[in-house]
Amino acid sequence: MPYRHLDSFLNNSAMAQLLRFSSDQWYDSRNNGDLPRWRQAYASLPDIQPGEIDLLNAVRIGRVEDCSDSERQQLEAALRRLIPWRKGPFELFGVLIDTEWRSDWKWERLLPHLSPLEGRSILDVGCGNGYHCFRMAGAGARLAVGVDPQLAYAMQFQCIKRYLPDVPVYVLPATLDQVSHEIRAFDTVFSMGVLYHRRSPIDHLLQLQSCLRRGGELVLETLVVDGPEGYSLTPRDRYGRMPNVWYIPSCDTTLRWLARCGFKNCRLVDVSHTTVAEQRTTDWMRFQSLADCLDPENPSLTVEGYPGPKRAVFIAENA
Ligand SMILES: C[S@@+](CC[C@H](N)C(=O)[O-])C[C@H]1O[C@@H](n2cnc3c(N)ncnc32)[C@H](O)[C@@H]1O
Repeated sequence: MPYRHLDSFLNNSAMAQLLRFSSDQWYDSRNNGDLPRWRQAYASLPDIQPGEIDLLNAVRIGRVEDCSDSERQQLEAALRRLIPWRKGPFELFGVLIDTEWRSDWKWERLLPHLSPLEGRSILDVGCGNGYHCFRMAGAGARLAVGVDPQLAYAMQFQCIKRYLPDVPVYVLPATLDQVSHEIRAFDTVFSMGVLYHRRSPIDHLLQLQSCLRRGGELVLETLVVDGPEGYSLTPRDRYGRMPNVWYIPSCDTTLRWLARCGFKNCRLVDVSHTTVAEQRTTDWMRFQSLADCLDPENPSLTVEGYPGPKRAVFIAENA
């Protein structure tokens, strides 16, 4: 896998070697029995060139007229072998991947609050299949690197990237722990939808901080609950059927955590309830989705009786 933009950014440092090692290792089929099937899907992608690319307003690659009907069928069949598609949507040569999440809605909510991404180097922790990384490139980033341990999402990314070889976006199938070694280099670090999955949220914030240059910007998006400063919800077991949720802080608690970690100018820029229009079962993600995780008698609660999902976006500067 070529790492052209990464190499120039990281200047052959130990970090670049670590990324390459970790990636090669994780793509090894011994680590996932589905990998041969995903590789076949990738290999069966048709060889077509996009006449147009739009990453600014959507992730739209190529036009209907750039390929034949049979090439489009071949493309759709290959992409469907990577179902479930959770983050998106993507449009490739007229094939719409209608993903579980309208990730574009989240992007539109937070983009107006960010320092302009033009020319910035960006790390997106927990990037899924890299949907937002492509949008970062569309907004002018000189480099967007995503990390996510789920190989299935990394393979989805590879399929999209297949048609965007020159776009400076990479997704590495790794956790933050595997790449975070005091990099202190990125201009902007995103962590969206990850904090509540961490058993130690403060350590997560400190790791994110260690990836930022001085004066760099953290964009933190997380589930939140109502409550005073100091309050956070630790579910008895599951939250919205998710087994691995540890801390859902109030907004004021999150701001306090950020300040305690040494971030400056910490601010809350958006709060929104997640709706069943934004997260839903589709033809490209046929499993249960948000509607199945809410109390049918009172959809403002989860099936476990907790407040329904509300998400907040925080911005903070690395001092
Ligand atoms: C709820 S999804 C959010 C995806 C995307 N950031 C978004 O906001 O739409 C959380 C993602 O974080 C990933 N993740 C969980 N723990 C992680 C870790 N320690 N390092 C990197 N990614 C992690 C999961 O695999 C999952 O894809």
